[in-house]
Amino acid sequence: MKLLEDRIKKDGQVLGAEVLKVDNFLNHQIDPDLMTALGQEFYQQFADAKITKILTVESSGIAPALATGMAFHVPVVFARKHKSLTLKDDLYTAEVYSFTKKTSNQIAIAQKFLQADDTVLIIDDFLANGQAVEGLIDIIGQANATLAGVGIVIEKSFQKGRKLLDERQIKTVSLARIKAFVDGQIEFEEED
Ligand code: G4P
Ligand code: NA
Ligand code: NA
Repeated sequence: MKLLEDRIKKDGQVLGAEVLKVDNFLNHQIDPDLMTALGQEFYQQFADAKITKILTVESSGIAPALATGMAFHVPVVFARKHKSLTLKDDLYTAEVYSFTKKTSNQIAIAQKFLQADDTVLIIDDFLANGQAVEGLIDIIGQANATLAGVGIVIEKSFQKGRKLLDERQIKTVSLARIKAFVDGQIEFEEED
């Protein structure tokens, strides 16, 4: 998506060989007009899938997930990473290992917000090693719901998440796909 690639080139900061800082429009300050455009693009890509629910993980997935829910007019559910005072219902949980942080965290959603007749679109801000998305897919399986696909704002194609999803033949739409960071410059995959 050209709009997004241009914004990444303008405002993204490359940190080392693997990390892109985008706190100007996605991970700290949020650009609502850009989010709206991203949500509409995900809607175009999954319009035929009869989506009934958008699923993401707090916190940075929520903004693009909400924009996508607004385009589809379906509810948005975010998995929680932290114990909540009010989250006392029956839960679906999954362990998410972070290769970056070398820690494992539990994510949880209340069972009442995911049903067997739901068709779910997962949305997240970054796809790196794919562990957060794998955790969400696990939870969708526990609920016997249907996974329609995965929508990612920024994919780092050189890490293993995209390959994992392709191997499982999951429809994955990434609006920006980064091939590599070379000398602090961002190289995008060719669009097809
Ligand atoms: P994985 O789920 O793909 O395996 O992610 P990984 O453990 O590698 O990443 C841990 C956290 O860092 C995730 O956010 C992920 O979205 C984020 N992340 C991964 N690569 C980048 C990057 O290049 N740039 C930025 N800005 N973030 C990256 P999180 O811990 O779940 O935090 P949050 O959603 O609360 O912000
Ligand atoms: Na993040
Ligand atoms: Na995230």
